[in-house]
Amino acid sequence: MISSLSVKLEINDTKTKQQLEEIIAQAGGFRITGNNNGACDLLILEIADEPDAAFRHLASIQSANLAKHVFLTSKRTESDILIRALKAGAKEFFTQPISTTEVSSALLKLLEQNGDRTKPARVEPRQGKIIDVFGSKGGVGTTTVAVNVATSLMELGNIQSVALIDMNLLFGEIPLFLNMDPAFDWVEVARNISRLDPTYLMSIFTKHSSGIHVLPSPSKIATDSFISAEVVEQLLKLMQSMFDYIVIDSGQAIDDTSMKILEVSDLVLMVGVLSLPCLIKIKRLQETFRMVGFPRDENVKIVMNRYNKKSDISLKEAEESLKRTIFWTIPNNYQATMSAINQGKPLSVIAGGSEIAKSFTDLTAFLGGSGEIKKEKRAFWGLI
Ligand SMILES: Nc1ncnc2c1ncn2[C@@H]1O[C@H](COP(=O)(O)OP(=O)(O)OP(=O)(O)O)[C@@H](O)[C@H]1O
Ligand SMILES: [Mg+2]
Repeated sequence: MISSLSVKLEINDTKTKQQLEEIIAQAGGFRITGNNNGACDLLILEIADEPDAAFRHLASIQSANLAKHVFLTSKRTESDILIRALKAGAKEFFTQPISTTEVSSALLKLLEQNGDRTKPARVEPRQGKIIDVFGSKGGVGTTTVAVNVATSLMELGNIQSVALIDMNLLFGEIPLFLNMDPAFDWVEVARNISRLDPTYLMSIFTKHSSGIHVLPSPSKIATDSFISAEVVEQLLKLMQSMFDYIVIDSGQAIDDTSMKILEVSDLVLMVGVLSLPCLIKIKRLQETFRMVGFPRDENVKIVMNRYNKKSDISLKEAEESLKRTIFWTIPNNYQATMSAINQGKPLSVIAGGSEIAKSFTDLTAFLGGSGEIKKEKRAFWGLI
């Protein structure tokens, strides 16, 4: 058994260096070494303004066997850099600003691999929450809800990482809603599922300016890869170790993959509107879920979108008909949602301060815990 692992930090960014020193001290089982020429168990190296020089330096360290393990960190997230990091054999790649939980769980993993049983209990691996946004019908606003829940969660400030994935398996609209042009999509995941690890997966996601990581659906039919329930399960499991929240736009499909997502989700936001066909559809979906045994009633929360107090069907009538409480209402605001879609921006950016933007902030504060709602939220997740 080893007593502690030596870590060498080659980091120019003062804030990142300080943060890493704190996380390493907190983790226990590691000691930072200032010995510049000797070998170390773990090297954490920053890729800054001159990536070529940094990768050359790394290659020379590796050829001299001076670092058993390497983690890289950078402000840059171009796929070229991520691919080079992967090829260089880096075990982890932390995008700056670095996430404490991401670094802690990487350190924990390293300790486990090195057989240290003395690790302190406080360094727990991340177990991200999966929120499945499920449309009870087409066009009720599922993508609007998924996109704005993901971006609002990130805006809360107390959550470090959020991923948004599109399960409308062909021609999903998330890149359009966020004005993005992602290099990779689901096909890349399905093709490489057997060799996915956090570093590689991170290079497949595209980071949006809001801070969320996005995995879009394919824009053309792929004939050489198959997105199965097993692929989805494996992907989500890995993602739970990397992100605090994973928000999924599931559309309205009921198939093998969407059933798997419903099964493994911590929370299903069932999106509907106050119309008779929609209420009938929600009832049928509830009956189906009860028949297959998941998701359980308490994990499914009904969100009524486009809510207008003057609608023909009142909330009370809807609740009586569904025999369920309506968990949340999102106000009707066609102009704001249309501008958000057309400009490819979240509602908080397009219509910050509006009732609809506030509704998303309050909903995510409830789910993600901030300020006063935190206590209720703890109880809420505790129940699930
Ligand atoms: N709260 C709202 N108030 C008014 N209009 C809304 C609201 N939410 C969404 N919409 C509008 O409804 C339309 C459909 O929205 P969206 O694409 O999010 O729905 P969807 O359920 O994902 O659709 P699809 O079934 O095509 O995937 C858009 O034009 C959007 O502007
Ligand atoms: Mg949609």
